[in-house]
Amino acid sequence: MYSEKVMDHFQNPKNVGELENANGVGTVGNAKCGDIMRIYLDIDENQVIRDCKFKTFGCGAAVATSSMATELVKGKTVQEAMLVTNKAVMEALDGLPPVKVHCSLLAEEAIHAALWDYAQKEGIQIAGLQQPKADIGEHEEDVAESY
Ligand code: FES
Repeated sequence: MYSEKVMDHFQNPKNVGELENANGVGTVGNAKCGDIMRIYLDIDENQVIRDCKFKTFGCGAAVATSSMATELVKGKTVQEAMLVTNKAVMEALDGLPPVKVHCSLLAEEAIHAALWDYAQKEGIQIAGLQQPKADIGEHEEDVAESY
């Protein structure tokens, strides 16, 4: 049911924890399944993501997608990080079962929430970034339908 990569990131997740010097922190939940994800970003003066960590209180697929998403955004500029969509995370994990697509949405939204927090603090705009929702449970069907 799960790819080897999903199992690997679930069993040995990368970048677990908190960042004390994070300048972007985002928390997103899904009230339907009760899962919550928090992403910490440490972004340097050139808007490059120097470090990234996560804490996820959720299912195995949510842990695996958080782990992969943090790996994908590290070293990228904030603008490049916008390309780390849930689709990109799923592809990097060699896919997810349809019932678990919403878990990868949590990762995308948590990264957006952390980027939004950073942009607010810095007084900048990141193209394509909109204010994230704190609870994605209401909207997941709209997005998941396209897969
Ligand atoms: Fe909700 Fe996976 S079951 S994030």
